[in-house]
Amino acid sequence: MTLPIPPISTSVKQEIHDYTLITLALCMYAFGLTCFMLPYQITTGGVAGISSIIYFATGFEVQWTYLFINVAFLVAAVIELGWRFCIRTIYAVLMLTFITWAFQRIFEDAEGNLPRWVGDEAFMACVIGAIIEGAGLAICFSANGSTGGTDIIAAIVNKYKNISLGNIIMFCDIIIISSCYFVFHDPRRMVFGYVCLILSALTLDYMLNRRRQSVQFLIFSRNYRRLADEINSTGRGVTVLDGTGWYTKTERKVLVVIAKKSESMNIFRLIKYIDPYCFISMSNAQGVYGEGFDKIKAKQLTNKHPLVFATNNAHKLEEVRAMLGDLFEIRSLDDINCHAEIPETGNTFAENALLKAQYVKRFYGFDCFADDSGLEVEALGGAPGVHSARYASEEGHDAEANMTKLLHEMEGKENRRANFRTVIAFVSDLHEPKFFEGRIEGQILTERRGEGGFGYDPLFVPDGYDITFAEMTAEQKNAISHRGQAMASLVDYLNAGKA
Ligand code: IMP
Repeated sequence: MTLPIPPISTSVKQEIHDYTLITLALCMYAFGLTCFMLPYQITTGGVAGISSIIYFATGFEVQWTYLFINVAFLVAAVIELGWRFCIRTIYAVLMLTFITWAFQRIFEDAEGNLPRWVGDEAFMACVIGAIIEGAGLAICFSANGSTGGTDIIAAIVNKYKNISLGNIIMFCDIIIISSCYFVFHDPRRMVFGYVCLILSALTLDYMLNRRRQSVQFLIFSRNYRRLADEINSTGRGVTVLDGTGWYTKTERKVLVVIAKKSESMNIFRLIKYIDPYCFISMSNAQGVYGEGFDKIKAKQLTNKHPLVFATNNAHKLEEVRAMLGDLFEIRSLDDINCHAEIPETGNTFAENALLKAQYVKRFYGFDCFADDSGLEVEALGGAPGVHSARYASEEGHDAEANMTKLLHEMEGKENRRANFRTVIAFVSDLHEPKFFEGRIEGQILTERRGEGGFGYDPLFVPDGYDITFAEMTAEQKNAISHRGQAMASLVDYLNAGKA
């Protein structure tokens, strides 16, 4: 579904907010680097790390390696994350260069030496610098920014996998720092580098996850209606579960609320105000996915769009999969664990098909199509029509009894014209329901002929043929049948990419 474009003022405000945060984050990062890392010669990872290793090993100048790697990363980033991310990255790379340069000018003494504010305590400098850098990175990421280099890889991987940003950056940096040993032969630099990496990654994860943390409440209250209403009115969803208090054997309602940790105080206030004696449990929710929370990042098993055909008729499914299988993953009602008797209470084929498709969409969320068909006999005023399956008895699907009844109703009738009709209803997120129809005209015989097919097939001879549907092969029938025609229109529609 296409979401409405937010009003300009909101998006401009958002941009200003993001860029302010990114700039603040870069200032923190540059401050950590200039005042704690550089003066104590602590090397960390990142693209600058790779560039210097290559420089020491081959003499190839640092800035070119740095430029090449960043350009390559940026190309990947444009493809994977879009222009918006790249514009921010380019801004961040240029800004960080400028701020780092400016901070060096501001903090250096007359001889051009950077300050050593913690004396000879290089380890202390490493700890302080790493925490400041990690916090800067977290603020930068939370505003959808990046400082370039390995951050880009981290953001790309994080788009697909649920690996934390800190872990991805740490993995890249461990490789970079470890390989620097073969060039520098100085284990102290490596150790400081590792400590710095671990601390900044921990700070980054802590700060990012703190904002994301969610909690789950189970609330057992006699005044659950009011509580649920009040919590709802704060914009949080509530689910009411039926429970039984086993000691008293009385029915109890349990409210389940999943909320951001920052909302929990407000929820507690409401509870205390409405029912100070209620029983509550609150626990940290490890991962919360769905509306208003994170997106599930697991890769789909197939790239095909799932589409439910609301039937369990194996023959119909096979036919449709053969026609649509390249583009869609066709699922049956069984496949989605739908075993309900979907009510077919409509007065027309279209209404019944729509009822089935909407039922699946509403309760299972999948785009869905459903068909409804039947036989319409002119001399019987269109009967059995939507009642074709249950013509002879309410239990339905007794083809023999249905045909016996039809022959009985048609006794002595001159006009034996009839048609089979199918309507397919297709329901999706993209548009209003669509309908596809197929119809075949023919005659009703006075006695059964043929063994194939199903339903009324042995009594129906299509126009232009002298054999019944039951005397045709499945291929012959499908090529001309009402269902075949309706299905072909649906397939054309879907193959044209309109779904
Ligand atoms: P459905 O909507 O496809 O399940 O069809 C409802 C009823 O209409 C079936 O139980 C059959 O009695 C009748 N019917 C629909 N299509 C055919 C057909 O192709 N041949 C014979 N009977 C059919």
